[in-house]
Amino acid sequence: MQAKGTQTVLVTGAAGFIGWKTAKLLLESGFNVIGIDNMNHYYDVKLKEWRKKDLEKYENFRFFQIDIQNLGALKVLFDSYNFDAVLNLAARAGVRYSMENPHVYLQTNAQGTLNLLEMMKEKDIKKMVLASTSSLYAGQPMPFKETLPVNTPISPYAASKKAAEVMAYTYHYLYNMDITVVRYFTVYGPAGRPDMSIFRFIKWIDEGTPIRLFGDGSQARDFTYVDDIARGTVLAMKPLGYEIINLGGGKNPISLKAIIQKIEDLLGKKAKIEYKPFHKADMKETWADIEKAESLLGWKPEINIDEGLKRTVQWYLQNKEWLKDVSVEEGKENI
Ligand SMILES: NC(=O)c1ccc[n+]([C@@H]2O[C@H](COP(=O)([O-])OP(=O)(O)OC[C@H]3O[C@@H](n4cnc5c(N)ncnc54)[C@H](O)[C@@H]3O)[C@@H](O)[C@H]2O)c1
Repeated sequence: MQAKGTQTVLVTGAAGFIGWKTAKLLLESGFNVIGIDNMNHYYDVKLKEWRKKDLEKYENFRFFQIDIQNLGALKVLFDSYNFDAVLNLAARAGVRYSMENPHVYLQTNAQGTLNLLEMMKEKDIKKMVLASTSSLYAGQPMPFKETLPVNTPISPYAASKKAAEVMAYTYHYLYNMDITVVRYFTVYGPAGRPDMSIFRFIKWIDEGTPIRLFGDGSQARDFTYVDDIARGTVLAMKPLGYEIINLGGGKNPISLKAIIQKIEDLLGKKAKIEYKPFHKADMKETWADIEKAESLLGWKPEINIDEGLKRTVQWYLQNKEWLKDVSVEEGKENI
């Protein structure tokens, strides 16, 4: 999408994995981007610093360390800029950690979204793209279609995202806001999240550390490359009313065992595997129906898993020096 005039977009979670890639795409398409992030320590903040620095190379980018839970700070920000659209990608995103610290999930994912909606209402900003998740489909028949009822989320993470989706609907209904909810399916790619399997597997296999595998590795995901997700998110900025749209690989899901094998081949190294019990709140399989994304946005994923993994491993090898000191542990912050 090419920026019309000079539009200014607020990207929340801009130092996060998907926020970074989406902001970058907007900047390269001529938008002004204001990025905010609270830079929390749920996972190693060195990755967030690296992504933020990458965005700061663009002169049409500004960054502010702001928490979306902080309504006062958001008021100052919304008084300072006229936003044409808000892309709300800031969130607490790990499933397992959401059981340890459910409060922060509800506060950021639900209350934080409400704060942004309130600011938009006050400033008459009409467009929000809200990041949501395939985790909402747990327990539903596959392939996962947007029309499935998702009223029984099985983790605090999924429940908090559902809360954000329905609050967004309310604001659409009451105040005529145009809101597109994008439900992402397991996103991977360069500078990805170190609490997620692909980042960890690459690092562990390369460093000869045993892989911690939850379950037997037969669980499968509809992996989606981050550039495809960023493109879909930007396309979702078009006026649509209120829509929920899956952005996923849309092919047969790939098992974690198959992913490990592909990474072994790319690195030319063998994995050592340490099996851990499968977690009740994790999903066995995810598989997106992406017809709606194709019909409403003209979106289809373009990067297949082999190409995506190749690029991800390449990035890892190019950045290996500083990645040596990056921790893959999650939820070690003091909150
Ligand atoms: N990565 C995936 O596979 C995936 C899948 C489904 C949905 N999502 C959703 O996509 C969005 C982006 O996820 P991601 O993978 O880039 O995760 P991420 O953790 O890398 O990015 C989220 C960013 O938001 C920031 N943040 C968290 N709480 C905040 C707050 N209160 N105020 C301001 N900033 C805050 C974090 O510091 C982080 O940089 C999230 O909404 C997530 O739930 C991601």
